[in-house]
Amino acid sequence: MADPGATLLARVAAAVGPSHVLTAPDDLAPYLTDWRGRYRGAACALVRPGSTAEVAAVVAACSDLRVPVVPQGGNTSMCGAATPDASGTTLLLSLARMQRVRALDAANATMTIEAGATLAATQAAAHAAGLRFPLSLASEGSCTVGGVLSTNAGGTAVLRYGNARELALGLEVVLPDGRVWDGLRGLRKDNTGYDLKQLFIGAEGTLGVVTAAVLKLFPAPRSQATAFAAVADADAAVRLLGMLRARLADRLTGFELIGALPLALCRKHHPALPDPLPGHPWYVLVQADDAAPDAPTAAEVEAALGSAAEAGVVLDATIAQSQAQAAALWALRENISEGQRREGPNVKHDISLPVSSIPRFLAEAAEALSRTFPGVRFVTFGHLGDGNLHYNLSAPEGGDAQDFMARAPAANRIVHDLVAAYGGSISAEHGIGQLKRDELARYKAPVELEMMRRIKAALDPAGMMNPGKILPDG
Ligand code: MLT
Ligand code: ZN
Repeated sequence: MADPGATLLARVAAAVGPSHVLTAPDDLAPYLTDWRGRYRGAACALVRPGSTAEVAAVVAACSDLRVPVVPQGGNTSMCGAATPDASGTTLLLSLARMQRVRALDAANATMTIEAGATLAATQAAAHAAGLRFPLSLASEGSCTVGGVLSTNAGGTAVLRYGNARELALGLEVVLPDGRVWDGLRGLRKDNTGYDLKQLFIGAEGTLGVVTAAVLKLFPAPRSQATAFAAVADADAAVRLLGMLRARLADRLTGFELIGALPLALCRKHHPALPDPLPGHPWYVLVQADDAAPDAPTAAEVEAALGSAAEAGVVLDATIAQSQAQAAALWALRENISEGQRREGPNVKHDISLPVSSIPRFLAEAAEALSRTFPGVRFVTFGHLGDGNLHYNLSAPEGGDAQDFMARAPAANRIVHDLVAAYGGSISAEHGIGQLKRDELARYKAPVELEMMRRIKAALDPAGMMNPGKILPDG
């Protein structure tokens, strides 16, 4: 009888060409562990199709031979969503070769692009056409269109433009049985029944493989302002958000909160970065953009910050005077995660809450955590403008990080119970992956979990797509 593994590899090699089927351990190694280094998996092969037809042929072969498929884009998941399990039976499907811009329709303000294009390349393609694709996040040089859609990524401009979900008009998906769904419609109005694309967005590859998307484009920003402000506490930051919104309305694109500790960690591991306003407990990074070339954006931000200072809401502030200064301020924000990673293991919480509840949440969470973990360090930062905090915890100074990590479940319970009490979410923008499956089981209503399971069973009855992700066992 034919060896099923050999049969699969032969079929897959016939579909994509033998040079795009990798099985040597050294070739596979970088794809088998996640960015944070928390998970290590195994796979029977890494396959790199170059077209939707090739993805379909690979997935059809896997379906016929009952081989599970793990799709992977830039491998930047924070939750182990793109890392296979340790069984070695799954096939790792990299979309990295599919990077084409298939169409850019400036009059319709849309771009049709393949799933393996990086987010940075997507932004650049829009920019080259005098337009903007606004999704922006720290890993944009590596993360891909397929990945950001599959995780419904958020990032730093959600306040104005929404999550990935709001930015996609159409999708092309290879279904778990290998059929292709061509939903690449560039329509802003389409009321023809269920909005199926939204099922695949945020599904983390558990319902099919996203191979291309139609994305919304926007006018490019032509008058911009980037400011950095020091505030005494989260309450002042929320008040500042209200003041800036009142003045700038939807020209306020980003409003990021940064605690003194994450800023210090970022600068420790990126010493060339500036320290614009030393010595304060909290900071806010403000981005405002206007599509009109001569709009007084910087003057308006300055005036709003001036009023906030007079009202005692802002302690000190600086406005970037050049693009280089603006980029340096953003680098202080975008490199926090990397700084924290280099510092050592940490317990991450990617939570969202009504913005109005955040100051009370932070006070209560800090008190409860400090009682259970005396000396615990709070690495709090994130997208305050849209209510998403990265409420990360590090071991006490001089404490054992591994020992602290072993107690993560107790910290998660404190944080997530409080998040639930405030009507928040335990995963704002990073997804569930492997990391939060058990937490999902705990915090989702049974009726919601049941609907999710039924959708999974309807689209992927044999459980072939990205097994072990999102849905809890059972
Ligand atoms: C970020 O906003 O920098 C990342 O989503 C956060 C993280 O590493 O927790
Ligand atoms: Zn984030």
